[in-house]
Amino acid sequence: MTHTDLSAVRQPIGMAHGLPNAHYVDPAVFEEERAALLTSGWSGLAVAADVPEPGDAVPLTFLGMPLLLIRDRAGEVRVFHNICRHRGMILVDAPRKIEGAIRCPYHSWCYSTEGRLVSTPHVGGPGKNTAEGIDRDLLGLIEVHSHIWLGVVWINLSGTAPPFHEANADLLARWSEFDKPLFHGGPDSRFQLTVNCNWKLAVENYCESYHLPWVHPGLNSYSRLEDHYHIEEPGRFSGQGTRVYRQLTGDDGKTFPDFADLDPKWDTAAEYITAYPNVLLGVHRDHAFAIILVPHGPGQTVEHVHLFYARPDTDPALRAKNTAQWKTVFKEDIFVVEGMQRGRHTPGFDGGRFSPAMDGPTHLFHDWVAEHMARHRARYKAAE
Ligand code: FES
Ligand SMILES: [Fe+2]
Repeated sequence: MTHTDLSAVRQPIGMAHGLPNAHYVDPAVFEEERAALLTSGWSGLAVAADVPEPGDAVPLTFLGMPLLLIRDRAGEVRVFHNICRHRGMILVDAPRKIEGAIRCPYHSWCYSTEGRLVSTPHVGGPGKNTAEGIDRDLLGLIEVHSHIWLGVVWINLSGTAPPFHEANADLLARWSEFDKPLFHGGPDSRFQLTVNCNWKLAVENYCESYHLPWVHPGLNSYSRLEDHYHIEEPGRFSGQGTRVYRQLTGDDGKTFPDFADLDPKWDTAAEYITAYPNVLLGVHRDHAFAIILVPHGPGQTVEHVHLFYARPDTDPALRAKNTAQWKTVFKEDIFVVEGMQRGRHTPGFDGGRFSPAMDGPTHLFHDWVAEHMARHRARYKAAE
């Protein structure tokens, strides 16, 4: 196991170094981070809108693990490991509607949409559907802890994290005004970007507004560097906000409807926060977005972007315009995150430094990574 030295990361910002190269390029450290950062707490997996109706089921692979996102008969979203308790066959291999039960294609063991094992044909021999030792009550699908917030399906794969509302209490309190039904804009309001960089570089870049003048000249023309503020909650989340959000208007001069009961500050403010580890969130008076980062190994990440609105019946042309606008902005970031990734192959790079004035939110994320790596290593050591 590679053990990187993270003491320089934990220094005060003016002295701190960024994470060592190995955290971006080394498969062994990627595996370590998977346990320490990505499966131990609440990570974003998908959006609830992926399974709009009871019975809708979508197989997903997250960190190499086959998962099944499903809306059960009662309408609740659940996540299971997508394998049969008999011989471990993959249960669902393409998105589909489960009409009756989830039937394993191998020997036809069947599970309810709530995960209960309901039938085991011929398990005791031809014509005999029970067998000693095969206790159906103990052989349901393996469920992953999940929670819906801001339209995102969050999962805790280790099963050891505190409940979502406790783990994210500060963020929920900060954005309590947005804790209301959000309506996914549908097929025109989702897209993916595959970026050749480590997932953390996408977080690091998202947390700061320092790069705006050079990377996002369009945005910067009305939302200048001095219009932004840092959002810093040590050990929890970080990001940035702007005081000059301008609503998008359609050709007819119309705008999206606002979320109900917002404080007047949101007339012109917008905030962009990373819910550690892997969800980049943005809220505005009239729409929100979530970018779920799905790491595909140390050097590649797929960004799943979703836009949400206050009502289900927003104008499709305006939605398309909004999606296009955000796609332009997020694509503008690709060359920097990919450029930093290439830079991580420079031997002897010391992790780089942080601007004490401008990089606080990014440094906080590094500090969070270092702290969780230290905790993980302490546990690992204790277990040896
Ligand atoms: S592996 Fe699923 S029924 Fe045999
Ligand atoms: Fe950016």
